Amino acid sequence: MEMLSHDILIVGGGGAGLRAAIAVAETDPALNVAVVSKVYPMRSHTVSAEGGAAAVVRPDDSFEDHAYDTISGGDWLPDQDAVEAFVNEAPRELVQMEHWGCPWSREPDGSVAVRPFGGMKIERTWYASDKTGFHMLHTLFQTSLKYDPIQRYDEWFVTKLLVDDGRCQGVVAIELATGRIRGISAKAVIICTGGCGKVFPFTTNANIKNGDGMSLAYRAGVPLKDMEFIQYHPTGLPFTGILITEATRSEGGYLLNKDGYRYLQDYDLGTPQPQPVLRSMELGPRDRLSQAFVKEQEKGRTLKGPYGDYVNLDIRHLGEKVINSKIPFVRELCLKYENIDPVTDLIPVRPVVHYMMGGIHTDIHGATPMEGLFAAGEAACVSINGANRLGSNSLTELLVFGARVGRAAAEYASGRNGGGRAVAAQAADEEERIERQYRRGGSRSGGEKMADIRQRMHDAMESGAGIYRSAESLAQAAQEISTLQDRIQRLALDDSSQTFNTELVAAVELTYMLDVAETIIHSAIQRTESRGSHQRTDYPERDDDAYLTHSLALRQPGGAPAIEYQPVTITKWPPGERIYGR
Ligand code: FUM
Repeated sequence: MEMLSHDILIVGGGGAGLRAAIAVAETDPALNVAVVSKVYPMRSHTVSAEGGAAAVVRPDDSFEDHAYDTISGGDWLPDQDAVEAFVNEAPRELVQMEHWGCPWSREPDGSVAVRPFGGMKIERTWYASDKTGFHMLHTLFQTSLKYDPIQRYDEWFVTKLLVDDGRCQGVVAIELATGRIRGISAKAVIICTGGCGKVFPFTTNANIKNGDGMSLAYRAGVPLKDMEFIQYHPTGLPFTGILITEATRSEGGYLLNKDGYRYLQDYDLGTPQPQPVLRSMELGPRDRLSQAFVKEQEKGRTLKGPYGDYVNLDIRHLGEKVINSKIPFVRELCLKYENIDPVTDLIPVRPVVHYMMGGIHTDIHGATPMEGLFAAGEAACVSINGANRLGSNSLTELLVFGARVGRAAAEYASGRNGGGRAVAAQAADEEERIERQYRRGGSRSGGEKMADIRQRMHDAMESGAGIYRSAESLAQAAQEISTLQDRIQRLALDDSSQTFNTELVAAVELTYMLDVAETIIHSAIQRTESRGSHQRTDYPERDDDAYLTHSLALRQPGGAPAIEYQPVTITKWPPGERIYGR
């Protein structure tokens, strides 16, 4: 097979991938960097982020406060050295975005506008109306265009990492427009493929978020860290799962149960106030708000809809002018997808899977334990988010750690070789595997339907590893996912075409999701405590003696992953109680 070759290869063209590419180009203009993305970069999921990006900007704020909010919000699971680096570098990154053209919203005096976000002591969420991700991605994309060494492979889908001599030295990818399979060698590979919300049935995530990079790394022997921590965003639209941004609540929106009652006052999140109060009620952290929804459901105080139970988000009192100026996209989404106008109507919402706190195990520079392999953004776990991410930290994270990983990979790649004969041979084997398994023979004659396997995975994950879990629910989910891992070997595919064979892509993506699902479940089974978003009904307390540790899921051939542990890094903030609403 003819191999393509680059110095650095970035898999994923969203915010983290583009920021990393720019950092590589700025660190060493002699390096040739390629971005391989299964969608055109402007269609990456970063585009759909709404509420904003956190960084200290006000004179009455401090790095200490941003770090404390992040660490307590993460239930003391974040690594504190990583959090300190994050909060220190965050303002510089957001100012850099401004210089590259990101249109941050402003106060009347011209200063950068900030809004409060859940679990934060002070307003520090920078925003561009309620289309922050859209503007950030545009800014990064247009900036990347000015660097000649950055080359793109748009609509190329990666199926394997090439590893030789313990070093990652490239990937195999399918060019979707032609169906051609190519090996691409590189001195360093950076995975920036985002999260894997699609493992669950209700999610804010785009269809492209299938845990591709997580599974690729896992298959290559790299551990996935803290996979049991799944963030449910408290306010997604029922059915579509479309995000109704936390900015609705930071502007003063209320959550109401079926009796029109602001039920969060019953959950140790403060008392009702006319305006949003920081770290209180609707501005509590996401894990607590999602858990409160389940409790309301158990008390029979949620509403019943065709797509399950829901509560109402009320922003009518904000008035049309505020809604149109601060959260216009929310109005647009409600009109288009629910046929309601939030100026006059209540918005039906429910918790939906939004974000993976876990991901590919990396150090503070984005390096994984495998030489030559790096990761950043939601695909990675550095970890700054611990057991529960605070809203608006992730857009900043993809900038700070996208830049860091680009610099680290550039340094690593300088003066190194990549991609010898063994790598080319592996690429040829992978081409043969794809042909055999998906284009002819094997899968063609199998009897298993993709839709059925996906549906069963969704059911198992929702009922077994949702907002509340137990040994029993997780064991059932583990059994089902193991059966599905077996069944997917006998998948029946109908489409043998070369051009844009989306059935083939969906089949490979489903294998990625099953891998990720098994790491989520087995990490959750082993963590016999409750912390942040991981709530065990059979182990309701946090257990710092046993579990102030990161879990590392390591693939075992043909079986469940082995789960190992690594201590959390504590620098200044010893574990304490998470107190909100007071
Ligand atoms: O609600 C939101 O706008 C989401 C923000 C985030 O997840 O950071």
